[in-house]
Amino acid sequence: MRHFLTTADWSRAELQAMLDDARALKGGLRGEDLAGKTLGLLFFNPSLRTRTSFEIGARQLGGAAVILEPGKGAWPIAFEPGAVMDGDEEEHISEVTRVLSRYCDVIGVRAFPKFQDWSKDREDRVIRAIAEFATVPVINLETITHPCQELALMLTLQERFGGQVDGKKFVLTWTYHPKPLNTAVANSALMIAAKFGMDVTLLCPNEEYLLDPRYMDAARASAAEHGRTITVSHDIDEAYRGANMVYAKSWGAIPYFGRWPDEKPMRDTLKHFIVDEAKMAKTDGAYVSHCLPVRRNVKVTDAVLDSPACIAIDEAENRLHVQKAVLRRMVRP
Ligand code: CP
Repeated sequence: MRHFLTTADWSRAELQAMLDDARALKGGLRGEDLAGKTLGLLFFNPSLRTRTSFEIGARQLGGAAVILEPGKGAWPIAFEPGAVMDGDEEEHISEVTRVLSRYCDVIGVRAFPKFQDWSKDREDRVIRAIAEFATVPVINLETITHPCQELALMLTLQERFGGQVDGKKFVLTWTYHPKPLNTAVANSALMIAAKFGMDVTLLCPNEEYLLDPRYMDAARASAAEHGRTITVSHDIDEAYRGANMVYAKSWGAIPYFGRWPDEKPMRDTLKHFIVDEAKMAKTDGAYVSHCLPVRRNVKVTDAVLDSPACIAIDEAENRLHVQKAVLRRMVRP
């Protein structure tokens, strides 16, 4: 039994096999791999795409999905080992996971960081605890990485670049957003682009917005395997110049986790990190995407989102196809 917690646990060849399967499923391949099986989806945070696409994907594969929202229709859950549960939590993750493992054939988990203390958030305790107690495969639906989004992004890039993504200039740009957001999609975009041999530039306003060294180092290791390096840039013009792909995302500055009032004045000076037509004009006719949801005219302008270069809707559709491929891989004997 293997979990799908992070693409770092899977080789490029294994991920490519899932992408090939996703492409076949998108092309009409019908699978009944989940016939008689049930997917249990634990959502600790809101979702439109992940929830809908997993529920529909399970149904299309002949199975069913059950959505659970702990603390809202399901009991609040404690996670700490040895917890003295005299607060709001009614049950411990050890019971929750072992019970769900008796009912379900796969468990999916969305559990965002708390944004208070990155040294704790980076341990990814919720999904790690669930993976420890589960006796069925566990899929990450976004915690501190978002591996299903990674596969959807890569499938979309392979479609657009005719399968030849190696060497294409991929710019992951931080964008302004009025709140500090999860670093998960940024970590993931960096890792998957590097893993598939792209020429990756991380554009962010300053050193405070660098990603956790775990993901920077993983991307650098993948880049080195392809004879490349990861470029970090704080220069908008230089980063966009010659890009083949621009991936927009906002995230919180890790050193300021738990100190939002301290980050806010710095962030308020960074509204020019919006993706707009002038910046896109500096690229080599790049495509642009975002994991969604996206705040129009804050992170990306209307003109860019509504242009033919924008492939965000394709990427969102591809969530369905790649997740069906992941599910087929998870239930394979
Ligand atoms: N991209 C993504 O995961 O979307 P949702 O948050 O709507 O699931």
